[in-house]
Amino acid sequence: MSKDIYSALKDRRSIYAISKEAPISDEKIQEAIEHAVNYSPSAFNSQTSRVLVLLGEQHDRLWDITKETLRKIVPAEGFASTEQKMELFKAGYGTVLFFEEQETVAALQKQFEAYSDNFPIWSEHSTGMLQLAVWTILEAEGFGASLQHYNPLIDEAVAAEWNVPSSWKLTAQMPFGKPVAEAGEKQFNPISDRVKVYK
Ligand SMILES: Cc1cc2nc3c(=O)[nH]c(=O)nc-3n(C[C@H](O)[C@H](O)[C@H](O)COP(=O)(O)O)c2cc1C
Repeated sequence: MSKDIYSALKDRRSIYAISKEAPISDEKIQEAIEHAVNYSPSAFNSQTSRVLVLLGEQHDRLWDITKETLRKIVPAEGFASTEQKMELFKAGYGTVLFFEEQETVAALQKQFEAYSDNFPIWSEHSTGMLQLAVWTILEAEGFGASLQHYNPLIDEAVAAEWNVPSSWKLTAQMPFGKPVAEAGEKQFNPISDRVKVYK
């Protein structure tokens, strides 16, 4: 990986057109994701985030499961576009599933009563921080990725298929693969409306 942090952050985009090619080995993918998980922050260093990395057939299986779950609830006449979307994600190389471990969150709520309401919120912050870290590191390694939220619809089927502990709450899905088309145009609001510096 040669990109500096500024370029990697800027170049990370929602990339939907992805292929089953991989610019790096599976071992390197694992290493990159482990790096992001290990070095992302969490409230009280609680390390509540969990990740499943699905590659190859396991990745295909996820998007088949999601398609069949959606088929049960999406009206038949609107299902073609849903199916197309599932095929788009399935066309990728892998998917990162993000979870937050709820027993640790509950234990912290009990241990630090004054912050009780905050721990579930901080857990959501932690998964968001990790998602950005993984998304950025995948970008830096030459992948394109997007962020999807078919939870909680697919939670049960995912837990059954990959033996996910009941305390792991699914928070997001990140399909990735070699980009086959660039990200769409992105509008930026004036940065001066969004960042104020006082000195
Ligand atoms: C909290 C959050 C939830 C998102 N959920 C979805 C989603 O469910 N599906 C999707 O395609 N993109 C989702 N996105 C991606 C945003 O639409 C995208 O990041 C935004 O439009 C900016 O585009 P960029 O990622 O190319 O910079 C989400 C992003 C964030 C931060």
